[in-house]
Amino acid sequence: MSSTYDAIVIGGGVIGCSIAYQLSKKQKKVLLLEKGRVGEKASSAAAGMLGAQMEFGVDHPLFPLAKRSRQMFGALSQELYAVSGVDIELIENGIYELSYTDAESDQLQKRAAREAFYGESVGWLSSEEVLEREPALSSDIKGAVYFPSDGQVSPIKLTKAFLEGSRFYGTEVREYTEVMRLAQNGDQVTGVETNTETILAQQVILAGGVWSSSILPPLGMVPVKGECLSFTTSGPLLTGTIKYKNVYVVPKPNNRLVIGATSIPHTFDEKVTCAGMIELMERARQMVPGIEEAAFEKAWTGIRPQTKEGRPYIGHHPQIEGLLVAAGHFRNGILLSPITGTMMADQIEREVLLNEA
Ligand code: FAD
Ligand code: GLY
Repeated sequence: MSSTYDAIVIGGGVIGCSIAYQLSKKQKKVLLLEKGRVGEKASSAAAGMLGAQMEFGVDHPLFPLAKRSRQMFGALSQELYAVSGVDIELIENGIYELSYTDAESDQLQKRAAREAFYGESVGWLSSEEVLEREPALSSDIKGAVYFPSDGQVSPIKLTKAFLEGSRFYGTEVREYTEVMRLAQNGDQVTGVETNTETILAQQVILAGGVWSSSILPPLGMVPVKGECLSFTTSGPLLTGTIKYKNVYVVPKPNNRLVIGATSIPHTFDEKVTCAGMIELMERARQMVPGIEEAAFEKAWTGIRPQTKEGRPYIGHHPQIEGLLVAAGHFRNGILLSPITGTMMADQIEREVLLNEA
């Protein structure tokens, strides 16, 4: 048997990498195991929006967590750059949710009023005001609710920055190493069994995204496929992210536009479909007619990890000692990655201190 680690993290997506980063920053001896390449699954498919208000809103039980996580990005981007040399491309230009009918405007205005009542930064903009800020939008727009504090990052660079930051603090990373099952002594986890060996650890953190159910079937993760595509333009078309119904257009550095995303539950299929591309492109053209001139770059899919309850599992397993779970972040794993990493690392540190007392 190999050496003993303080913690083994199963899964090298944005969630596993964030946890490994925070744990190794606390001087824990960490091993991160990834069955393929780090970051190649849902975490590299994301658009990278930090939509605490756009995706959740003040009435959602996860809003306080999402808002705290969004607030962490400013300091985190500098901290990660210092230790990893990776710029996560944090852009704080807000998100517009658009309306094309009076009924939609009415609904969005009520939503803006509710956010404002709770002191959140939000604004209702008339069609003239939206078009003044974003002249590339189609002129039949009725208005938009604007969330200035919602931003975006590069999800691929964020995962890479957490990974390199973890290595900087001493995390050992093994790619192409699949965890087949937990190693247990009764109700106590003692480590993991990989395809080649048993590795011992004080704590095991399951962060395998939608595949977490292979290790722990009762989690019952639901796969929700999402398709995206990207275009480039000769000059900037948008400053902020725009969204209408289920489709968003996110302006990235170097005049790239990311358009997402379809939402197809109960499938692990990773094909990019013609139907998906048509849906996204038609909706994007409705919002930004000039996108017709943009040059196609690429298209891709990812599988979002959804839980039956619709909320991520973040914390101790109720029956298995030494096992923690961080999975099921569904549409918001990029946004929630900073807070998930610190929550998990803090819990583990508290437990070690209690055991030593
Ligand atoms: P993953 O990134 O899937 O990582 C899990 C990793 O665990 C994988 O690499 C897998 O290989 C590994 N693994 C699994 N089982 C094992 C095992 N037994 N042994 C070893 N390794 C294992 N979120 C946002 O916040 N903003 C967005 O704008 C956004 N847009 C999205 C757009 C699309 C199209 C999609 C699909 C998702 C989007 N998301 C967004 C959601 C976000 O991508 C996910 O919530 C997040 O990436 C989940 O991260 P994860 O680390 O849990 O999972
Ligand atoms: N959060 C955007 C998506 O999952 O498509």
